[in-house]
Amino acid sequence: MKVQINKSSKINSVDFNNLNFGEICTDHMFVCDFTNGDWNEPKILPYESLKLDPSSSVFHYGQAVFEGMKAYKDDKGQTWLFRPEDNYNRLISSSIRLSIPEFPKKYFFEGLKKLLQIDSNWIKPGKGNSLYVRPFVFANTAGLSASPSKSYKFMIICSPAQSYYSGETNVKIAENYSRAAMGGVGFAKAAGNYAAQFYPTSLALQEGYQQIIWTDSYSHKYIEESGTMNIFVEINNTLITTPISDTILDGITRKSVIELCAYLKKNVEIRRLSIDELIKSSSEGTLKEMFGCGTAVVINPIKSFSYKNKKYVLPLLNNSFSSLLKEKITSIQHNISEDIFNWRYRVDS
Ligand code: PLP
Ligand code: COI
Repeated sequence: MKVQINKSSKINSVDFNNLNFGEICTDHMFVCDFTNGDWNEPKILPYESLKLDPSSSVFHYGQAVFEGMKAYKDDKGQTWLFRPEDNYNRLISSSIRLSIPEFPKKYFFEGLKKLLQIDSNWIKPGKGNSLYVRPFVFANTAGLSASPSKSYKFMIICSPAQSYYSGETNVKIAENYSRAAMGGVGFAKAAGNYAAQFYPTSLALQEGYQQIIWTDSYSHKYIEESGTMNIFVEINNTLITTPISDTILDGITRKSVIELCAYLKKNVEIRRLSIDELIKSSSEGTLKEMFGCGTAVVINPIKSFSYKNKKYVLPLLNNSFSSLLKEKITSIQHNISEDIFNWRYRVDS
């Protein structure tokens, strides 16, 4: 791998106590081009703008997928990733669905490790601090033909992230808009999935909600995901989460919550949950908690949901199960607690 070190680091100009998610990127980027049917030798370069042909297919047909993961530094200065193998596997299933050539696993891990070693100073220790790592790949063949590109660029960029308290969220259950449909690309981290959420989400924000709970595109009767997070609902002391399907992103935090619940002997049901059942449980007082989960926020408690202009408020809890889950997961991520599930991956050795 070729490495070119950035001679003018911007790290000293960054206020690490006042970061907005994803606004600042580190000094380096990992780049690997796919040309003539193969991936070329990867490089680490100083972070800089790209030069692209305006007819590049990514701009017109959205052939692009990405991943999201975090690196953590413990008190001994060691750097860890959380279940990166799962991110790699998901990148491959996303790529296959978008007709993008599979990025080699060896390059992915070598690139991640090297980049995180070079930009190690950007990873601050302490619970809550992390470096958000964004691998992505896009089609860059020049030409307007609506067919799979012949060339691609795979990159990894990183952005320092802070302890993020999202607050308790008021969500709106989608009545008409959908995030994903059966047979579509909802299970993939396809760039266009996110663009398609912006407009309905901005309408919900104007109405005073912080997020949308997506429902199935066929009947709008079953809940699917919460914003860009998987969703869990606790009814009668059992956590319910939607099964993975064409329309659900197979979240690594979701998977971790399910495995942690098995260990904690908390009952989890993986099944569809209808809006009717959700409302009924709220009226009967059996609905205890709802939360979204994902890499960025880990666990995001939901305070209320609204459906057809009626608001349903969740009970106020002092010791919520979701806060216990967040504590357990973040302690494993930061190498504070024992890694009983073998989830941590050492980067700097
Ligand atoms: N659902 C969607 C649509 C997402 O974009 C994400 C975040 O990446 C998740 C769920 C949560 O996935 P993970 O826990 O792997 O971050
Ligand atoms: C998450 O990690 O929870 C996300 O939703 C990632 C997001 C920035 C697309």
